[in-house]
Amino acid sequence: MTGLCNENLIYGNLINGQWTESASGDVITITSPADGSFVGKIQAINKEEVNDIIRCSKAGQSLWSVVPIYEKAALLYKAAALLEERTEEISDILMMEIAKDKKSSVSEVKRTADFLRFTADAGKSLEGIAVSGENFPGGSRNKMSYVKRIPLGTVLAISPFNYPINLSASKIAPALIGGNAVILKPATQGAVSALHLVKALQDAGLPAGALQTVTGRGSEIGDYIVTHEGIDFINFTGSTEVGRHISQISCMTPLLLELGGKDAALVLEDADLEYAADNIVEGAFSYSGQRCTAVKRIITTDKVADQLVTMLKSRIEKLTVGDPRNFAVITPLIDQKAADFAVFLTQDAIAKGAELIIGSKREGNLVYPTLLDKVTVDMEIAWKEPFSPILPIIRVNNMEEAVEIANRSEYGLQSSVFTKDINQAFRIAEKLEVGTVQINNKTERGPDHFPFLGVKASGMGTQGVRYSIEAMTRPKAVTINITE
Ligand code: NAP
Ligand code: G3H
Repeated sequence: MTGLCNENLIYGNLINGQWTESASGDVITITSPADGSFVGKIQAINKEEVNDIIRCSKAGQSLWSVVPIYEKAALLYKAAALLEERTEEISDILMMEIAKDKKSSVSEVKRTADFLRFTADAGKSLEGIAVSGENFPGGSRNKMSYVKRIPLGTVLAISPFNYPINLSASKIAPALIGGNAVILKPATQGAVSALHLVKALQDAGLPAGALQTVTGRGSEIGDYIVTHEGIDFINFTGSTEVGRHISQISCMTPLLLELGGKDAALVLEDADLEYAADNIVEGAFSYSGQRCTAVKRIITTDKVADQLVTMLKSRIEKLTVGDPRNFAVITPLIDQKAADFAVFLTQDAIAKGAELIIGSKREGNLVYPTLLDKVTVDMEIAWKEPFSPILPIIRVNNMEEAVEIANRSEYGLQSSVFTKDINQAFRIAEKLEVGTVQINNKTERGPDHFPFLGVKASGMGTQGVRYSIEAMTRPKAVTINITE
């Protein structure tokens, strides 16, 4: 193959610097969740090819690790410029491949370019330390440990469908600046978009073997790669189910896992309700709720609930629903299974006594934004991650109960607290068992240099530019002993 894909939109894998078709001839056809149209075909790679890729990765990493950091950084800057130049083309592909509305698709590409540049800058400011022996009892100033960070080797980056470009780049760039080689396994639905990111990095001048790709169904090839002895680190974003499975089989390979969430917005009685409603609707419904950080439940008291419901309803009514090309906020879900699950959660809640305020309409995989009031803890929607535009409201007697229910979730990604009382906000923030508490804001990952992490079933390890570089490098200590 001479380029990323041929005239029939059959995409290759980047293997040792060449876009390559699988010897087996097995391909997977990617169609759009928006209208079923053809997006492209990707390779379904086999085990022997994985072995070759990992072999090339070793050689590629040896060459890449010795490239000076300022040159690595310059390459990331160049890739960022290329991505920006290609924003229109790539965002159109993204929009069709995962039915993400056009505005959000453009924003994902631009955010990724910023991420590449910020990572380059962070890489350039990496420094080692010198630790004197005299600080520890019995130690001596004649002993000094000189510590710098070195790469781990080959990083396997596994990304989910909902941010194929950004959540691939947020693994690839910090791994590369740290001197690692990377093998990207993108989500199958999202692979075409992710391969365009890889092409920009290749065109920026990445040497052969520094970045390679593996496409194919995770259920078929995933276990083989994850357990391959040539993988030195696994950086995974996706569902808790697959994350747990990977952690069970990956035996001694270090992991960074960013998994599911059930982010709660706690709305206190003194909150600015109009502001909270604006934030919550944006947080819950952008990209149809298919974000790990989407607001996935509201917990509040009777005193403000009725008023809040009215405000939420009037905003939800205004959300545009339909084709991502028409800038709709609510677009078709990634597949029929996702829509089936959304319908199941809504019907279960209504059958158990929840009040449907708006929504519960489905056309194929398009699910209309749904607000459910008076949700109780016996309903599935109180605990399950819908990954669709469904927002439940759980009414409680007080904020102690709100915190208890928020913490009863198996997940622990983020929570929001809406209040004008900063002391109360801090008291509640201290008690919430999550990676991040947002005070007076919707739950969200960015800005991308902030630490981003989940606790409990939401993950393991921390992302965010500097944190990701640290996760994918290790300290190397050389101890100097000055002899008399
Ligand atoms: P997913 O089904 O878990 O898939 C994620 C990735 O894992 C895909 O590339 C998938 O490939 C691959 N995979 C599947 N089985 C595998 C195996 N046995 N070994 C190795 N890789 C395997 O998740 P998704 O549906 O794409 O994404 C939605 C989920 O991700 C939600 O739960 C969401 O909350 C979570 N998420 C979390 C964060 C975070 O930062 N916390 C961010 C975004 C999304 P295939 O596509 O080929 O199956
Ligand atoms: O889906 C999970 C993403 O990491 C969320 O990122 O808060 O910027 O949408 P976001």
